[in-house]
Amino acid sequence: MKLDDLPMARDGDDRLERISPALAPAASARSARDAAGEAAWRELHTAAAARYRAAGRFAWHFARGKLGRDPVFRSLVERGDLGHRARVVDIGCGQGLLASLLQACANLAGSGRWPLAWPLPPAAATYHGIELMPRDVQRARAAAAGPAHSLAPTFECVDMRRAALPPCELVVILDVLHYVDHAAQSALLTRVRDALLQGRPEMPRRLLLRVGDAASARGFAVSQWVDRAVTLVRGHRVPPTWGRPLAAWVALLQELGFVVHSVPMSQGTPFANVLLVADVVGLA
Ligand SMILES: C[S@@+](CC[C@H](N)C(=O)[O-])C[C@H]1O[C@@H](n2cnc3c(N)ncnc32)[C@H](O)[C@@H]1O
Repeated sequence: MKLDDLPMARDGDDRLERISPALAPAASARSARDAAGEAAWRELHTAAAARYRAAGRFAWHFARGKLGRDPVFRSLVERGDLGHRARVVDIGCGQGLLASLLQACANLAGSGRWPLAWPLPPAAATYHGIELMPRDVQRARAAAAGPAHSLAPTFECVDMRRAALPPCELVVILDVLHYVDHAAQSALLTRVRDALLQGRPEMPRRLLLRVGDAASARGFAVSQWVDRAVTLVRGHRVPPTWGRPLAAWVALLQELGFVVHSVPMSQGTPFANVLLVADVVGLA
């Protein structure tokens, strides 16, 4: 029998544990932890998507697909990137998936079933979504009007280049900045930094920015192609074209005073997406 034929073998560590029985308790604790995380994510996914039943079949299927297949949502929860008790501004929020996920997190935590192995639940204090497309805003509002939405999210239909940004501790911008030109990207990020600087200094103040890495020719080309197709279907007039290589995104954020680290964020997809976790630290 080969090691790979043994049950539960997934990586090198598991094999070690099977060879050495002394490591078995650690292995079973880890698999219990994984199972709890898996079950919790399934529950969050189902609950967040279910809110869109009120917004129509398209909105519900879209929510199920995107929350399930795009690695960023689960990762934000499991990594604890969404902070705790932050006032959240979600720029280019689409149909407000993040608001629904935050509410599902609040409900799961409130029921006492938040996995012990996960970081603190985000328990966002407020959520404000900014979105250009009226139909997306309608869907977001319909989902928010459903039962048990203690977060009471607000959505504004406005161009992010002109939107006022309230003081906050967390700004989320997922796959949006390439819709506007480089000058507009820089101007918006400057205003984002200023909004975060007005946030509560005793809390972490953070921008979560997902971008495509234009230096990764193949993955970036795939995401541009998909984006253009989706953009056309959704009735956007301007195709999303203004990318930058990852190093240029990081340099831009650093020039603005952010402390940045990057996390690959396209697992299981053909894209070259990267999540930039950018913190405002020690700026006056
Ligand atoms: C790829 S989608 C991402 C949606 C959402 N962030 C998510 O991850 O589910 C990009 C979104 O940005 C919005 N958007 C594009 N240009 C915008 C602008 N100038 N102002 C506000 N929203 C914009 C689009 O309408 C679209 O909903």
